[in-house]
Amino acid sequence: MPPFAFPTRPQSGFPLTRLPPDMTDAPDVAVIVVAAGSGSRLGRDMPKAFVDVGGRPMLERALESVFGMREAAQVIVVAPDAQLPVAQQIAVKAAAGGEVPDVVAGGATRQDSVRLGLAALREDIGIVLVHDAARALTPSAQFDAVVDAVRAGAAGVVPGLDVVDTIKRIDSEGRIVGTVDRSDLSAVQTPQGFPRRILEEANADASATATDDAAIVAAAGYTVRVIAGDPLAFKITTAWDLRRAHLQLRDWSDATPKVGTGFDVHSFDDNAELWLAGLHWPGEQGLSGHSDGDAGSHAICDALLAAAGLGDVGSVFGTSDPRFSDAHGEVFLREVVRLVRLAGFRVGNVSLQLVGNRPKIDPRRTEAENLLSGILEAPVSVSATTTDGLGFAGRGEGVAAIATALLVPLTRGRPDLSWES
Ligand code: CTP
Ligand code: MG
Repeated sequence: MPPFAFPTRPQSGFPLTRLPPDMTDAPDVAVIVVAAGSGSRLGRDMPKAFVDVGGRPMLERALESVFGMREAAQVIVVAPDAQLPVAQQIAVKAAAGGEVPDVVAGGATRQDSVRLGLAALREDIGIVLVHDAARALTPSAQFDAVVDAVRAGAAGVVPGLDVVDTIKRIDSEGRIVGTVDRSDLSAVQTPQGFPRRILEEANADASATATDDAAIVAAAGYTVRVIAGDPLAFKITTAWDLRRAHLQLRDWSDATPKVGTGFDVHSFDDNAELWLAGLHWPGEQGLSGHSDGDAGSHAICDALLAAAGLGDVGSVFGTSDPRFSDAHGEVFLREVVRLVRLAGFRVGNVSLQLVGNRPKIDPRRTEAENLLSGILEAPVSVSATTTDGLGFAGRGEGVAAIATALLVPLTRGRPDLSWES
């Protein structure tokens, strides 16, 4: 029986060693997904949020991103009155066995719909994100970044992109009357996040109207900040946008997993403490190295970097950088995971084998697997072998480590749940 059982739900199943505090408590974040518009510019015979995007309704795509958030949230879907039953079905499907979003009826304008969503907030919610279902491919990481910025004390946070086109001001005849300086413009997206109290206060005046929540909150006298948005959070407004979404989804479905291998050896050093597979081994002979000599962690880093096509530990970190002298394996692993994500992957799983006479791995195998799985946010299995007395490992001169890593292409930064079915 292997000590690591593959989880049924990646977000909750890992033996994470350090859960963020809010993952264990009732959520204090809510996401209101507004989906009650008609989609007049898209011009389909159904409200926009129910239009097919690569085989699934736009609303379902949008909710997948929400459910990929790092922490649990209360999710409120605001749908057209006539579509409440189908919105409810989509909500159940997107929840995939988790907590089903609340579904409420929307209003005549976007801001009316937001207000109707606000009315469904649970008492313990402190932070509210408002998201357009029309931004159906928004990466989950964008939600996390907005939550982080609100938690850091902002009165309002909005993702935005630099404007690349030259923008002209025109009159009703189409004549150019001026050029707008684009250097101080931002094309803003959703989710837009606020402390609940501020968003409710700004919406207390039911006549306040705007095309986004930041404008309402700014009009109430608060400073709203822009953080870096993502081109994937584009709003599906026209037929061309819908085509772009289809092409993007096809691109993702074509992406294949990547495998990588890593190998490392460190020799024993009587004057060093032993760090191996991320763990400290008191009383064991240590390993030499510029860092802590953790051959296991280094082999995993090499496997991950190789799978992502990013080189190896030496080329990424150097072999003499003073920042990494005596650094523990965890430091390298966390940085490699960050680089791998930037390259467009999450870790699927990792297998690590340690080769040597000592330390005996078995008594602490589960501990090592739990630690490494927590760092990589993916299953890590650790095995060990001797070499029947042969070679440097057999003579007790050092420890070797071999790792294999599988990387899965990120779609929207959400865990890939397709293997569940
Ligand atoms: N929205 C809403 N209630 C409204 C109007 C809009 O919940 N009364 C939502 C839309 O469903 C969308 C988001 O607000 O997710 C942004 O609006 P937009 O892209 O303008 O969508 P529509 O209003 O549906 O489209 P159009 O303006 O082309 O009719
Ligand atoms: Mg609209």
